[in-house]
Amino acid sequence: MTVAAKRTFPAAEQSAQRAYRLLTASVAPRMIGWVSSRSAEGVDNLAPYSAFTIVSSRPPMIGFTSFGVKDTVRNVRETGEFTVTVATPGHVGQVNETASNFPPHRSEFVECGIAAEPSVFVAPPRPASAQCTLECRLHQIVEFGDGHFVVGEVLGWVIDADVIEENHPEGPHPRPQDLRPLSKLGVDEWATLGDVFRMARPDYNRSQA
Ligand SMILES: Cc1cc2nc3c(=O)[nH]c(=O)nc-3n(C[C@H](O)[C@H](O)[C@H](O)COP(=O)(O)O)c2cc1C
Repeated sequence: MTVAAKRTFPAAEQSAQRAYRLLTASVAPRMIGWVSSRSAEGVDNLAPYSAFTIVSSRPPMIGFTSFGVKDTVRNVRETGEFTVTVATPGHVGQVNETASNFPPHRSEFVECGIAAEPSVFVAPPRPASAQCTLECRLHQIVEFGDGHFVVGEVLGWVIDADVIEENHPEGPHPRPQDLRPLSKLGVDEWATLGDVFRMARPDYNRSQA
């Protein structure tokens, strides 16, 4: 077997732009959370955030990172609520449009012609085309470098019945092959869902029995 040549990139030698490129190309794929929020003045905002992850399972909590203070962070700080919609292939054009730097008093729902639907658990609406949305109450915003990590407790999920796997031993949940979450790779590279396969998790105790 041939050994691949390797290159090392010390973080201390990278410009901020180079480090961002290395980060986004190596921490990939990242699912795209399409985040809605409402300002104190009542302007509804919608923007994609792919620096997104699960933070706690009990209670259910998720978090996303805003690099710098953007409208979403400002709104969530002001009103304490947001929704995260799983971006799917039908959303791709609108997701990208909502990443434009609209001023805070302009709503992406209006500017990009995106129909809004009232949320169930929180005030900010979600895109009417959403197939899977997590509705959240702000838990904490933690700062790391230029990152503002917004953590929210999930108050509830709203999921299209069409993408739910109903008869699963662990209960109904979105079926990835039907939901088809979009993801972000490098700076301008995106991806759709690839092959899905199943594999049981090994259990040490059972292997010793
Ligand atoms: C697919 C995608 C993912 C993005 N992910 C992030 C992210 O994780 N963090 C971030 O700060 N900006 C991210 N951006 C850029 C923001 O969406 C963009 O700065 C937007 O204008 C922020 O909107 P807001 O000011 O309304 O919150 C992403 C853009 C795209 C297209």
